[in-house]
Amino acid sequence: MDRITEATSYIQEQDSSSGNICLCTESLCLSYGTRAALENVNLRIPSRAVTAIIGPSGSGKSSFLCCLNRMTDLCCSTTIEGSVRLGEHDIHRDLGKNPIALRRRVGMVFQHPNPFPFSIWKNLALPLKHHGVRNKQELSSVIEQALRRVGLWEEVGDRLRDSALTLSGGQQQRLCIARALVLEPEVLLMDEPCSSLDPLSTKCIETLIGQLKNSYTIVVVTHDLAQARRVADHVALFWNADGVGRLIEQGPAARVFQHPEHELTTSYLEGQL
Ligand SMILES: Nc1ncnc2c1ncn2[C@@H]1O[C@H](COP(=O)(O)OP(=O)(O)O)[C@@H](O)[C@H]1O
Ligand SMILES: [Mg+2]
Repeated sequence: MDRITEATSYIQEQDSSSGNICLCTESLCLSYGTRAALENVNLRIPSRAVTAIIGPSGSGKSSFLCCLNRMTDLCCSTTIEGSVRLGEHDIHRDLGKNPIALRRRVGMVFQHPNPFPFSIWKNLALPLKHHGVRNKQELSSVIEQALRRVGLWEEVGDRLRDSALTLSGGQQQRLCIARALVLEPEVLLMDEPCSSLDPLSTKCIETLIGQLKNSYTIVVVTHDLAQARRVADHVALFWNADGVGRLIEQGPAARVFQHPEHELTTSYLEGQL
């Protein structure tokens, strides 16, 4: 058995971590056209905690995140096998007809802040209107709440009609988080949310992640191991084996960081790979 196959068998034998599991994948495989990108991923994501997905570039971390709210549907020629469960539901079989409703429950924040080129207000009002909220008072109240939640209200509450593009990068990213939160998701997926931010804005987003986990299940992809150590309750290491992404090890952050059980995890955490 090679090292990767061994790791996969090991993962399958592992018991799930305690607590409620919000999302879980079973034998998940993803291909782009004929090219496999993920193979046999069995990952359990606990509720109301931060799960950090770490691993080298090209190990399928972003692709995996996109499987969790079917963003993969938006790329042509993707094939998914296995299952992704959100609570009791299989997101393909049970929620198949309505990926937009699924994405309301499983929101996403991307690597580079991507506010719409409209006012701060409109960035938050648009998704709400799209989901049928029209009452101006209700819009104002939900928008204020979301901005307070991400610590932006004090900074921008008096200039909601200004373009979102006038905000700093860190503020734009917090606005994008607020844009996901106005729809009251259960899960927030974040793909390297700090990779284009300065250290102060990064600290601000990390603090925010720590607060949001009390209300949301958070899955954050990060290439920054120090950040994973700071924010994660659970950790999953992905690896690229012969061009295909695999899950190598998962578990509570303290256990994985202090006592990694797979040699690839040890080497990766020590910076040897
Ligand atoms: N939309 C896509 N179409 C085709 N191949 C893709 C697409 N997105 C990612 N890939 C491929 O899937 C593999 C994993 O990529 P990715 O999920 O971005 O890894 P990571 O986020 O760990 O860097 C890479 O080989 C990448 O080229
Ligand atoms: Mg990526």
